[in-house]
Amino acid sequence: MDTATQTEPIRIGLFVGREWSWPPAFIEEVNSRVTQSGVIAEFVKVGGTMMNEPCPYRVIIDRISHEVPYYRSYLKNAAIQGVKLVNDPFMWTADDKFFGASLLDRLGLPSPKTVVLPNREYVPGIKHDESLRNLLYPMDWNAIVERVGGFPCVLKDAHGGGWRDVYVVHSMEELWEAYNGSGLLTMILQEFIRWDDYARCMGIGQRQVRVMRYDPTQRHYHPEHGFDSEMEQTLHDYTLAICRAFGYDMNTCEFAIREGIPYAIDFMNPAPDMDVNSLGKGHFDWMVKTMADVMIELALSDEQTRNQYAWGKLIEEVIP
Ligand SMILES: Nc1ncnc2c1ncn2[C@@H]1O[C@H](COP(=O)(O)OP(=O)(O)O)[C@@H](O)[C@H]1O
Ligand SMILES: [Mg+2]
Repeated sequence: MDTATQTEPIRIGLFVGREWSWPPAFIEEVNSRVTQSGVIAEFVKVGGTMMNEPCPYRVIIDRISHEVPYYRSYLKNAAIQGVKLVNDPFMWTADDKFFGASLLDRLGLPSPKTVVLPNREYVPGIKHDESLRNLLYPMDWNAIVERVGGFPCVLKDAHGGGWRDVYVVHSMEELWEAYNGSGLLTMILQEFIRWDDYARCMGIGQRQVRVMRYDPTQRHYHPEHGFDSEMEQTLHDYTLAICRAFGYDMNTCEFAIREGIPYAIDFMNPAPDMDVNSLGKGHFDWMVKTMADVMIELALSDEQTRNQYAWGKLIEEVIP
C-alpha cells in the first residue's frame, strides 16, 4: 500500500457561495491525485469558532468571505494557526480601488488617472458643521475632473465589485447626479479608457497566468485570446506583477487596451469568476487543473505562510 494513503492526508479546505461548477470540479481533481500527492480537498464546515481553535487545513481557498463576514473572522484566526490562505484575508479587507490605483502607478504599470472623493453622506452621528472640519468645501469640481483628463470619466465605488455603482459620466450635471446618489459610499473618479481591445487575465499562485480576450459589453470570454505574442507577454507580466504586489494567489486583472497599451482597469478580484458558463470549457478546465496543481504545491511546500506583509511578520515572528 502506498504510504500516502496510510497517514492522515494533508487537507485543502474550501469556502464557497452559490457557485456550483468550479468547486466540485476542483475537489474531484485534487482528490483524484491523492495517491500521488497525499492531499485531499473538501468543503470547510464551521458553526461558531473558539479563539485559537486549531484548524485542520494546510490551505484554505476562500471564495465568499466578502459576503459572509463570519468566514473572514474564521480565516483571520486560521492565519494565526499557520494556515495558508488563498486569498490573504488581511489584504482583502484592506484593499480598495484607490489604494490599488496608487500602488499600480508606483509600480509603473499603465492605469487610469484616479482621484478619491469625500463621501456624499455620512452616518447619523456625523454633524456636517462639526465633524467634518478636515474637509475643504466646496470642492473644486473643475480641477478634479481636469486631473482625470476631463469628460467622459468614470465614477465608481472604491470598495465596489460586480459592476455595481459604476457610472460613465459625460458632463458636470451627470457627474453630480451620480455623485449625489452615492450615499455612504466612497467614490473614485477615473479617466475613461476608450479601448480597442480588452483582456481579462487569471493569475494563480503568483506564477501561472491565463490570458483571455474578454468583451465587457457582452460579459463574454472568447475561447482564443488572439493577441500577438508581445501583447500576450505584456499582459502576462503585468498580471503577475499585480498579483505579487497584492499577494493574491487567485485573482483576475482586466486590461482596457488603447493604442497598444494595456491599462489595468479592475485588478483586485480575490474571488474571481470561475464559472463554466461564463468562462467556457477551455478556460474552465485550465482553472480546475491549474488551481489543483498550485494548491497541492502550496499544501506540500515548507513555506510557512502566504501572508507576505505585516501580518505575515505577526504570524511568523511575533506570535510565539
Ligand atoms: N476607467 C475605465 N475606463 C473604461 N472602462 C471602464 C473604466 N472603469 C470601468 N470600466 C468599465 O466598467 C466595468 C466595471 O468596472 P470595474 O472597475 O470592473 O468595476 P467592478 O469592480 O464593479 O467590476 C469594467 O469592466 C469596464 O468595462
Ligand atoms: Mg469588474
